[in-house]
Amino acid sequence: MQPPEIDLTKLDAIIDRHKIGKWELIPLLQDVQETFGYVPPETIEPIAEALNLFPAQVQGVITFYSGFSLKPKGKYVCRVCRGTACHVKGSRSILRLMKHELGLEEGETSPDYQFTLETVACLGACFLAPTMMINRDYFGKLSPTKMTSVLGEYRKKESE
Ligand code: FES
Repeated sequence: MQPPEIDLTKLDAIIDRHKIGKWELIPLLQDVQETFGYVPPETIEPIAEALNLFPAQVQGVITFYSGFSLKPKGKYVCRVCRGTACHVKGSRSILRLMKHELGLEEGETSPDYQFTLETVACLGACFLAPTMMINRDYFGKLSPTKMTSVLGEYRKKESE
C-alpha cells in the first residue's frame, strides 16, 4: 500500500512561520513532522532555500536527531519504554505482546499506515512504570491486559 498522500501546500505556511533564521530549523522541522507525520524528503530543498542553508545541512540535522523521520509513520505511533525503571517492572513482556498484537518489530510500520512500533530509552514518567505512549498520550502502570485494551481502543477508533 502507498503511504498517505501529503498536501505540500501546507509547507509554505510552515516555512513562513519559521523563516526568521537558521536557528529556526529545528522548530520548523518539528512543525513539518507534526503536520505530515514525518519529514517528507521533498520538503528538504524548499526548507533549505528558505533558511539559506544547503540541503545537506538540513538532511544532516534530520538524520542526527532520532526524533525526526524521513519515512512515513503510522497514524498511531506506539512508543514502548525500555528504560531501567520500566524494564524492572516488566516492560519486556509488554513489548513482546505489543509486537505480537501489531505483528510488527521495532521501527516497523503496518502496511496500512495505521500503526508504527518504536521503543524509547525513557519516557520521563518512571513513577508510572511500565509506560508507553501512543502519539501524545501516556499510558502507565501497564499490564498485558491494560496494554491490550488500550490498543483495542485505538483499533476501535479506526473502525468507527
Ligand atoms: S524508564 Fe520508563 S519512563 Fe523512565
